[in-house]
Amino acid sequence: MSSHLRAVLRERAERSLRSSDQDFGPDPTAVRETDHFHAEYVQSFVEKWDELIDWDSRAESEGRFFIELLKGRGKMNVLDVATGTGFHSIQLLDAGFEVTSVDGNAAMLTKAFENAGDRHFILKTIHADWRWLNREVNGKFDAIICLGNSFTHIFSEQDRRRALAEFYAALKHDGILILDQRNYDAILDDGFSSKHKYYYCGDEVVAEPEYVDEGLARFQYTFPDGSKFRLNMFPLRKNYVRRIVREAGFASVKTYGDFQETYQEAEPDFFVHVAEKHMDDPDV
Ligand SMILES: C[S@@+](CC[C@H](N)C(=O)[O-])C[C@H]1O[C@@H](n2cnc3c(N)ncnc32)[C@H](O)[C@@H]1O
Repeated sequence: MSSHLRAVLRERAERSLRSSDQDFGPDPTAVRETDHFHAEYVQSFVEKWDELIDWDSRAESEGRFFIELLKGRGKMNVLDVATGTGFHSIQLLDAGFEVTSVDGNAAMLTKAFENAGDRHFILKTIHADWRWLNREVNGKFDAIICLGNSFTHIFSEQDRRRALAEFYAALKHDGILILDQRNYDAILDDGFSSKHKYYYCGDEVVAEPEYVDEGLARFQYTFPDGSKFRLNMFPLRKNYVRRIVREAGFASVKTYGDFQETYQEAEPDFFVHVAEKHMDDPDV
């Protein structure tokens, strides 16, 4: 990226952080930059995020999937690299895990800290970008979680590989990475089906793609008060993610579809990849 473009994006991000409006510029579908997530999670959207991801229905649909997966492998020291408003960090703290909570967006981290405080937890937060994670994060973790379709915010292959290398380096020798993504293959190949409910959405919020091509999935989120927000995301294909995770050095990757081990490719809304640095389980 040129230094001029970087300066324009940073200026746009800083302006957005101060304002309550998202700013995608004159040609929104041309915005395909990793750094743009700063300009998308503006304060007003952050405030609304917990309406979007109704915590109760999300807890119900996820069940104890992540808790059991981590506990079953004895992975109690967890780095949540996409903390957002804190749903998983707080859930894991409540289940007895030791959690460090990272996000690249300061407004998200502040909200997560508040949400934790409301539930009598103190969140250990670190403001860091995944691409330079280990500049800010010290120590090695049993597990890294990157959930809520967060990895989709990276637009370049180089940035994806860089982030995965940073995740790999922050894990202990037998650590695991749990990374989820929306089923973009189904959207790209078959179109978006309205029966597909965004599993962590609140009932009141309508989430729908506004524009999709192989390099961009632009979603619109409409709230009951009529307010609308958008996210520009990169539509990650499942097998591509599996491949780059392996190429980052992970020994194995197992992919679940809507938390199930067996599924028809087009059916799940979400995939969850579980990658191991070392192959403990020969079936994985
Ligand atoms: C879709 S939200 C998901 C948040 C949370 N995991 C959830 O499920 O509700 C994505 C989060 O990833 C963060 N993020 C996106 N790109 C990032 C990057 N390059 N470095 C650090 N955080 C990033 C955003 O700030 C945002 O909080």
